[in-house]
Amino acid sequence: MTAHIDKLDALNQHLSLHDKIISIHKTLSERYPFIVRIAIAIYDPKTGLLKTFIHSSDEHALEHYQAHLDEVPSLKAIIDKGLPRVINNFLTFEHSDSEHTQRIGRQGYLASYTLPIFNNGDFFGFLFFNSNEKNVFSETILQQIDIYGHLIALMVINESNIIQTLSAAVKTTGNITHIRDPETGSHLDRMSRYSRLIAIKLADQYQLSDDFIEHLFMFAPLHDIGKIGIPDEVLLKPGKLNHNEKQIMQSHSVKGRKIIDDLLKNFELEHIEYSCMLRNIIEYHHESIDGNGYPNGIKGEQIPIESRIVAVADVFDALTSVRPYKKAWSNGKAFDLLAELAGQTLDANCVNALLASKDEIDQIQQQFKENFYG
Ligand code: C2E
Ligand code: SIN
Ligand code: SIN
Ligand code: FE
Ligand code: FE
Repeated sequence: MTAHIDKLDALNQHLSLHDKIISIHKTLSERYPFIVRIAIAIYDPKTGLLKTFIHSSDEHALEHYQAHLDEVPSLKAIIDKGLPRVINNFLTFEHSDSEHTQRIGRQGYLASYTLPIFNNGDFFGFLFFNSNEKNVFSETILQQIDIYGHLIALMVINESNIIQTLSAAVKTTGNITHIRDPETGSHLDRMSRYSRLIAIKLADQYQLSDDFIEHLFMFAPLHDIGKIGIPDEVLLKPGKLNHNEKQIMQSHSVKGRKIIDDLLKNFELEHIEYSCMLRNIIEYHHESIDGNGYPNGIKGEQIPIESRIVAVADVFDALTSVRPYKKAWSNGKAFDLLAELAGQTLDANCVNALLASKDEIDQIQQQFKENFYG
């Protein structure tokens, strides 16, 4: 018998996607030391944005970056042609006037291999292998790297499919119980993007990785799943709630927490990465900085950052949207109230981050307008 060590044994362990990618990179670079970075960017088909997601290097200059796919013709061409892209000498990019390309160029990579990722035929994102030497991606080497590329792609897609399954289960549960949440469709599209805006602005200060930010974006729409358990008479009441109704309404955070715990258990997803973030968003998005929120009355930094971010996005969208109980406010009026609430009920840094994103807010509102179904 010969002893063999499985260099990819880390993939058998309970590790985050990020750690698994780091370990694949480590194995790959033993053989091809010139591969200094593996990175993944994911695509949002609703907005056409390509967003940095996970990478394996210590280099942080390419994080928190997004670009419209249409504005990066070199990447767009990869999808249009359906072929990976091999660049064996990045110096050819030197004179490009696209901000994107210059950003990549400044990192000093000399060659790159880019594979498009598809999930059952739908474009999902890109996988980048960056090299610090030129002319390294020969046909023989690429054949080896392709296998690693597809392995990584499957891992990323698997994680995304899990989250999609969970979201679908939540949606179906709502449909089955015939409870029409007034917060559907465009509301969720907007508030998840506001959450992302805030997180990007706070990324350096709170050391939020792209990975964290994209999970926040995916999980934010689930914040009110507990409303499934609130009777229509209360949830859809056209006027103000009385004391008793208010208490019923406020039970949606705890009901939501129970629903998500149950879903995670039934789908055997209790150990997915960031399941804690999901629980925190659902249970704590109505906690208040001064401790007067619900359900637990925790205050300040006791409230997880993901919950503080979602709270601001949620309140801003609630104010600027029609609800069964209120008219839509103008952005200006909503900004004024947010500024007032900052430091009292809402986290001041999160509020300031949103207030500093007015152009982006306009864009999101333009794209995800109210419609008949809300
Ligand atoms: P929601 O409609 O998504 O509102 C989320 C949060 O936005 C509210 O949390 C509140 O913090 C803020 N918000 C929304 N509208 C206003 C407003 O006109 N003025 C101010 N100052 N803040 C506003 P909250 O209060 O804990 O409410 C949670 C949920 O309870 C709401 O979610 C909504 O579904 C329901 N709700 C609250 N008040 C009423 C009401 O008077 N009538 C009815 N039918 N439902 C209500
Ligand atoms: C990191 O923060 O080390 C990388 C995580 C990421 O950018 O996705
Ligand atoms: C990246 O490495 O994140 C982007 C690389 C490219 O556009 O070639
Ligand atoms: Fe809520
Ligand atoms: Fe809400």
